[in-house]
Amino acid sequence: MIRRVTGAFFSPCGNVEKVVRTMAETAGARLGVPAGYADITLPGGRAGEIVPGEDELLILGAPVYAGRAPNKLAPYLAAHVRGTGWAVPVVCFGNRSFDNALAELASILTKGGFHLAGAAAVVTEHSFSSRLAPGSPTAEELAAAAAFAAGAAEDAQAGRALDAAAVPGDADASYYTPLTLEGTPARFLKAVPAVDQDKCVRCGTCGRVCPMGSVDRDDPAAMTGVCIKCQACVKRCPAGARRFTDEAFLSHVRMLERDYVRPAGSVYIRAGEAAR
Ligand SMILES: Cc1cc2nc3c(=O)[nH]c(=O)nc-3n(C[C@H](O)[C@H](O)[C@H](O)COP(=O)(O)O)c2cc1C
Ligand code: SF4
Ligand code: SF4
Repeated sequence: MIRRVTGAFFSPCGNVEKVVRTMAETAGARLGVPAGYADITLPGGRAGEIVPGEDELLILGAPVYAGRAPNKLAPYLAAHVRGTGWAVPVVCFGNRSFDNALAELASILTKGGFHLAGAAAVVTEHSFSSRLAPGSPTAEELAAAAAFAAGAAEDAQAGRALDAAAVPGDADASYYTPLTLEGTPARFLKAVPAVDQDKCVRCGTCGRVCPMGSVDRDDPAAMTGVCIKCQACVKRCPAGARRFTDEAFLSHVRMLERDYVRPAGSVYIRAGEAAR
């Protein structure tokens, strides 16, 4: 018997959170059990462990970064998320491809001891450009995610497990190499947001929302650690003072806007069903 549902999410720009909350709420409602949430976006949210009981269903969501789970998040998940109950890996991707991210998340969960109750890769607006899957997830797309979650909850309740081998991708594959408009590797690993000092109102938002805790609280233009290019500080700066100016990064974004505006399509995988 499933007695509780937990939705856990890493979601710098909020798309994964929307999808996971919708799924967890629907799964809980379908089973008539409470749903709770674990926000692991900020460093403080990753201070503890996620260890649900064997009578719980965990819905774990992460964005796709370079075709995999974010590389600064994966070690936390592998070390601190475990259980003997049920779990659903959910990745949100910005309309290019989820490549190997869903397989990676499924592998982390099965190695952590969970049975899979389904798996989902959901198209959501790309953090780099609102021209890729603009406005996603829409109400209609959230309804599809909810319908999947209700079914997965029933599968968990009935003890129907999804074979991890049915999840497309290779959990150990390399990361996707971002390309420029010219098709060459876009090297922007060291890029950080530029700050327009004339616009900055020193509100401190960028420091509060950075999932890596890397923006200097005293000087919003200074970095104290790594930048994962998540765009949280750029999107949430109330003054529009932050943006990426790195040429390789911008060329990659133009390439995405040229080559990946076609609808990619979400993938929902239920136990006993082929991917659809
Ligand atoms: C650094 C970075 C890398 C990304 N890599 C991919 C990718 O390989 N494929 C893809 O389709 N979307 C990619 N995206 C888009 C995100 O997966 C997508 O926008 C997701 O909705 C972000 O989740 P969030 O809104 O919860 O932060 C990337 C986004 C970022 C910030
Ligand atoms: S969020 Fe924007 S306005 Fe606020 S401190 Fe950071 S850069 Fe300045
Ligand atoms: S500084 Fe980098 S990692 Fe931090 S919120 Fe901004 S884009 Fe994300």
